[in-house]
Amino acid sequence: MAQPSREGLPPGPSLPAIFVTLAYMKDPYLFYRTQFQKYGSPFTVNTLRGKLVIVTDPEQAKQLFTASPDELDVWGADALDPIVGPASLLLVAGNRHKRDRKLLTPPFHGARMKAYGAVMRDAARREAGRWRVGEEQSFLRCAQAVSLEVILRAVFGVQSSGDVEAWSRAVTGLMDSAHPAGLFFRAARVAPFGLGPWAKFLEARAAVDRMVFDEIRDRRAKERYGDDILSLMMQARYEDGGVMSDADLRDELMTLLLAGHETTAISLSWAMYWLHRNPSDLEAVHKELDQLVAEGRFEAEHIAQLPMLEAVCNETLRLNPIVADVVRLSHAPIEVGPYKLAAGTAVAVSIATIHEREDLFERATEFVPKRFLQKKYSPFEHIPFGGGHRRCLGAAFAMYEMKLVLAELLSAHRFAVTGPERVGRRGITLGPENGVRFRYLGSRVPATSAREIKANVV
Ligand code: HEM
Repeated sequence: MAQPSREGLPPGPSLPAIFVTLAYMKDPYLFYRTQFQKYGSPFTVNTLRGKLVIVTDPEQAKQLFTASPDELDVWGADALDPIVGPASLLLVAGNRHKRDRKLLTPPFHGARMKAYGAVMRDAARREAGRWRVGEEQSFLRCAQAVSLEVILRAVFGVQSSGDVEAWSRAVTGLMDSAHPAGLFFRAARVAPFGLGPWAKFLEARAAVDRMVFDEIRDRRAKERYGDDILSLMMQARYEDGGVMSDADLRDELMTLLLAGHETTAISLSWAMYWLHRNPSDLEAVHKELDQLVAEGRFEAEHIAQLPMLEAVCNETLRLNPIVADVVRLSHAPIEVGPYKLAAGTAVAVSIATIHEREDLFERATEFVPKRFLQKKYSPFEHIPFGGGHRRCLGAAFAMYEMKLVLAELLSAHRFAVTGPERVGRRGITLGPENGVRFRYLGSRVPATSAREIKANVV
């Protein structure tokens, strides 16, 4: 690679910071795409939090993702702080991040993670059990119920259905009250006379905090530990023998909830949307699922290995990445393409823009899951879970959940997606604007013989 020759910041639009921040809030994909078309990669934008260098090239993303973790810090963290709290894995850096990530990693991998497969499948079945034939509703709302139940049972260890309902109400109240203005703009964090959206948010947060701290205290007192992630966190030891404080446990629980609930629900909704807009891909998935049913192997371990189902999840996350970009603040000079950026520069990888590049993904605006059967993409080209030392901790968990929930629903049920969709802001995330409306068409009998499977697909 050529030596970086340029000092200073890459060029970019000379738009006022307030305009950039509002354009980003409205539609980050569109904003980045437009600037990339004008300036190439990297380019610089002015934001209310200072200058930000945006990378839309996989080689440059690699430079950032493989830079030394000791030299990278978080940036723009105060937007999430009100929800997740200062000890959140999303907000800590350096040794603290390394130490906490090591403690939190085991339950999200291997056999421990796979143990949550039953929770995921049960949640999907329970949700489908509520549907009535002919009824029209939002798939996103159904997926939110499933992914919230998964987090509450697998992470928080909530057990009875009554408790799941009470926790769901409190948590949904908190997420619904998290208005983007209060998170993006510090000045909007005011509650005059205890009124207004910020006051509502504080009230909802206090309600969830009370439940979390009561639960932690009760478990400690009764030594009531199970296989859930909260139990594992409460019993885990740092290298120096210390345990996580109650305040830190609360912050990590809120982090896992924020990072893992809505993200997975939105991805599931897009997958359902695209599959029902592309019948030949849906048929290919049906064929794989029916084959497992016919062979009596409709188990999580086999479902997780189905190539077409995996390709569908990967393509959904490519076409509709839930997180538009990931940002790092560099404490040391860092090379990005032809630039040597000074210490203190904030650099973002625009996930969405990389995923839209025609030179990497032919017919990039279309849903083409089979591309993942034909080619292996590098961890700097297909990056829905970010990259480097902060890559999504729950990536394997999310993929597992997507596959199991899709397998449960698609093998046994029929749907008609009823309306068009486009990306819109949903609180602090972006998702399908209309929630993926669908009509439930009733149960589906999987083909059980080789002849039937073939006939279904032709
Ligand atoms: C389809 C679903 C999901 C998507 C698209 C997604 C995406 C992401 C992205 C882009 C990041 C930032 C990575 C970076 O900075 O390089 C992230 C971080 C994170 N995610 Fe996910 N995520 C998903 C599901 C989950 C789930 C299910 C969990 C856990 C239950 C989870 C837990 C986390 C945590 C703890 C972090 C912070 C990691 C760190 O800073 O070290 N995510 N996720």
